[in-house]
Amino acid sequence: MIGTNNIKINKQNFKTRPDCRVCAGNHLEKFLTLGPTPLANSYLTKEQLGQVEDFYPLDVYFCRDCCLVQLLDVVSPEVMFKDYAYLTGASNPMRVHFAEMAQDIIDNFSPNKDQLVIDVGSNDGTFLSNFVKAGLKVLGVDPAANVAPIAKAQGVPTLVDFFNEECALRIREKYGPAQVIVGANVFAHNDGLESFSKGVSELLAADGVFIIEVPYFLNMLDKLEFDTIYHEHLSCFSLHPLVHLFARFGMAVVDVKEMPVHGGSLRVFVKKSPAKPSANVQRFLAVEREKGIHLLETYQKLAQDIAVLKEKLGRVLRGIKQEGANRIAGYGATAKSCTLLNYCGIGPGVLDYIVDTTPLKQGKYTPGSHIPIFPEEKLRQENPEYVLLLAWNYGPQIMQKEALYRQKGGKFILPMPEPKTV
Ligand code: TMP
Ligand code: ZN
Repeated sequence: MIGTNNIKINKQNFKTRPDCRVCAGNHLEKFLTLGPTPLANSYLTKEQLGQVEDFYPLDVYFCRDCCLVQLLDVVSPEVMFKDYAYLTGASNPMRVHFAEMAQDIIDNFSPNKDQLVIDVGSNDGTFLSNFVKAGLKVLGVDPAANVAPIAKAQGVPTLVDFFNEECALRIREKYGPAQVIVGANVFAHNDGLESFSKGVSELLAADGVFIIEVPYFLNMLDKLEFDTIYHEHLSCFSLHPLVHLFARFGMAVVDVKEMPVHGGSLRVFVKKSPAKPSANVQRFLAVEREKGIHLLETYQKLAQDIAVLKEKLGRVLRGIKQEGANRIAGYGATAKSCTLLNYCGIGPGVLDYIVDTTPLKQGKYTPGSHIPIFPEEKLRQENPEYVLLLAWNYGPQIMQKEALYRQKGGKFILPMPEPKTV
């Protein structure tokens, strides 16, 4: 709450659920409060800066029964996803990641040309376009009406809809069963995991595979990646709650891998039961137990560490300004920067501007913190002394891309797990 006095806690557009979205239990413990914050993708135009801005609670809970870390205040998906500013294709590392993932699926599960590959949360079609190139049959499902035309333009048929059981049955009737269903960075966004999972079990071919990718809770725990929590991310998964959820709908986790995207994600492979879990699955579950994911103390300690990080980051940035630095910029108007900037109280008095490759964000202002967003060229033209790496999940790629800026003396500040200048 640094950019504006005109904030309003919006009470119409969200509801608070009473139970856990994976196990329906009600042994829920609140351990962290990061808000209220505005919605992460609600970038403002200059005209909107003086207007009332909607904020929503951002409280984080732990389920004692299935270990799911989750938000219970659920903002209406119509409000969050119908008009969406995030484009997968805007981040080159994600294009590379999804091309590799598609190749992996083709190599390991060899869908043939008559079988259907479905991507739920297909966004601009970046992922499915790889299957189209390989001559495979695809269908994207995504509620963002403003993004679907981009997917269609690159040859990816897209159903503009929220995926759930009813939608799955409609797809099955029209196209038949799916051999592969993928949900990358969509499962954590969904409040109706029961209907979603039921839909998958009904749409999937008997020998088909369902593959999800979700940011992994153990990374938040170990590296304090608290800013991956925002209203769109309703759940932060470890493997335990996923095993529990799929078992409820006649499916089983058969394999799991760690992927280096979004600060560390899990790629989880699910098949219809009976199916045998790999040794990997047992290993991940054992590590999670060792890390104490069943214990409330683990979460209380995490909350304390996050509060300490907030103080440290504030001190580092204020210190730099006091030493006389003219300018600190931000790199990447990421969704997670909304949590970081608002929770840490970083506004335009600290960051002069943020650079970002997404045309939809350029010329706008960050929600709540009201920092102007410019194309990346501005950084290269102005060479600010420091730049706070808000897109820390792309650290290596961005450092490489901005080698010249660094040669000219520019320094990156990495925010976590400990603020560090490089
Ligand atoms: P994400 O972390 O949710 O994928 O969002 C990344 C944001 O960062 C997106 O708005 C694009 C932007 N970005 C850049 O501006 N420059 C870059 O080099 C990369 C990789 C991303
Ligand atoms: Zn639960």
